[in-house]
Amino acid sequence: MKYPKEYLQEIKNRLKTSTVVSKTVSLKKRGKEYVGLSPFKTEKTPSFTVNDEKEFYHCFSTAEHGNIFDFVMKTQNLRFGESVKYLANLAGMRPYTFSKEDEIREEKWNKYKLIYAKYVEFYHKYLFKNSLAKEAKDYLKNRNLTVEEVKKFKIGYVSNDENFKEEIFKEFTESEIKETGLFYFDENKKKYVDRFRDRVIFPINNISGDPIALGGRILNDSKYLAKYINSPETPFFKKGNNLYNLDFTRKLSNNINNIFLVEGYMDVVGLSKNKVDNVVANLGTSLTTRQIITLSQFFHHIIICFDGDESGYKAALRSAENSIIELKPEKEISFLFLPNKHDPDSFVNEKGKEFFENFSKSNSVPIHKFIFNHYSKDIDDNPSSRAIFEKKLRSISSTIKDEFIRKYVLEYFLGKISDLTPNTNFKYKKNYSKPSKSLKSTQNFYNETKSFTAIDIKEFSFLYILLKKSKLIKNNFNLIENVKLFSSENKLLFEEIISQTNKFENSDIGNLKIDQSLIDRVLKYASIKHILTKNLNDDQKILEILSELIRDLKNYELELRISDLESRFSKDLSETTFNELKELKKLQKIN
Ligand code: UTP
Ligand code: MN
Repeated sequence: MKYPKEYLQEIKNRLKTSTVVSKTVSLKKRGKEYVGLSPFKTEKTPSFTVNDEKEFYHCFSTAEHGNIFDFVMKTQNLRFGESVKYLANLAGMRPYTFSKEDEIREEKWNKYKLIYAKYVEFYHKYLFKNSLAKEAKDYLKNRNLTVEEVKKFKIGYVSNDENFKEEIFKEFTESEIKETGLFYFDENKKKYVDRFRDRVIFPINNISGDPIALGGRILNDSKYLAKYINSPETPFFKKGNNLYNLDFTRKLSNNINNIFLVEGYMDVVGLSKNKVDNVVANLGTSLTTRQIITLSQFFHHIIICFDGDESGYKAALRSAENSIIELKPEKEISFLFLPNKHDPDSFVNEKGKEFFENFSKSNSVPIHKFIFNHYSKDIDDNPSSRAIFEKKLRSISSTIKDEFIRKYVLEYFLGKISDLTPNTNFKYKKNYSKPSKSLKSTQNFYNETKSFTAIDIKEFSFLYILLKKSKLIKNNFNLIENVKLFSSENKLLFEEIISQTNKFENSDIGNLKIDQSLIDRVLKYASIKHILTKNLNDDQKILEILSELIRDLKNYELELRISDLESRFSKDLSETTFNELKELKKLQKIN
């Protein structure tokens, strides 16, 4: 039996190629692609590329090429079926088992989708065409929606249309229809009625873009009717597994790092109308870890922005405690609090996109700070209250799955807590001076070194020798004069050194007319420091080291040209590009 195309497609939709590949290959972003060392061959320079948009990987040294299924089959030596199981699991999907039951379920699922698709289409058109929908149209106009948003979100208006209902009941069986939750049986009237009648409807799509549930809003707020109702949970719709608008936003994730997570349908629609497209909603239920995991597959930074009222704040706190569990290195979760009485929809409509985005940049609070700030508001100046506070924070941090995040969040909490006990925690404070900054400074150091590439560090070493051995360099000037550096700051320093070296006669190199911080970087990060200090008087040895560094730098230039050609090749797949590539790779080997 074959896996249904849709099941495989769903796996692909949920997993980026780079997410799957990076489980086994460490990837670096380069432009629109990722590069890394080929898993099919031992190599020193990366010749393996991954393209998320095109959903494939390509290895230039072995000509291996394929999608996520091929990748898992080849790198883990699995058969197709096993790779599907592995990836389905990674995507958080149920395994596909091909039993009779599964077949029946598959058939039901197809009917379910079909009914929803018809229903959504019918009542979407109805909104535009039918005179009975006038009140709904006016309502949407009053809320400043244009045809563009109504179409994009396939908003509709349901009236109890007997003809349409008849048609549906002719085409599908009663139990198929009942399963969708679109109609319920009215015991008094002894007939099926539209659950969403007299409501504006917002289709909720699954990640592949099929409508699988609805939200429906009444036109006039009333004491007796719920403002919104949703489809009941069905075998194919589980609230906590879905996010409104994820089918659309996941396509943006190759170019956008941030996603706004809001509460309501209208928040998504309102932001989208104001051209903030990277937004999803969790639809008024509490945020589940499943939803956080799904979002992190696609986006690096989740910004949770709930309504600026008490219930929005409470929901945010619950979400923070739920989602910090899943926080991972290189991922961020922040909270954005809006001025009182605003929700994202009203806020962006009043202030516009630019203001909203700036506001979000300067007011988002990282998740660990939000949690700390919240609980620290309640502490009284007595031991019991403080003890409860510390216990609570320790217990929250202990739920975090990733050990590094767990460590640093706890570190942040304890650092802040030790400010409350300046005397007894003296020892702690001494070991961790300025504890409130520790998380940040650890991160800074990490970010700082991470922001240097291997080649930056080589350049530092090269410059280090130039700075420390100026006389030797002057006497061997031919060695260095044609060297090309890549970092623009290092280039500046290099040029200045060259000009000074040309000027000075017998004494040492003079004062460099250049920003001291450029020199300090070299002195701090040059990895050659220790070796050089040991051999400071051995000129022969130093020249050897220098030549080796220069060779590496040249190789890097080659590598850059190769990687340019590689991305060109992955686009044009032309023979000339490939031959050019081969030539350069030969050169690289000779060097
Ligand atoms: P809101 O009351 O903030 O709705 O509830 P909203 O989206 O801002 O809507 P407007 O602007 O008043 O039209 C946020 C979300 O909570 C769910 C809905 O998903 C809603 O979008 N909700 C709210 C319900 O499910 N039922 C309700 O009665 C109210
Ligand atoms: Mn709201």
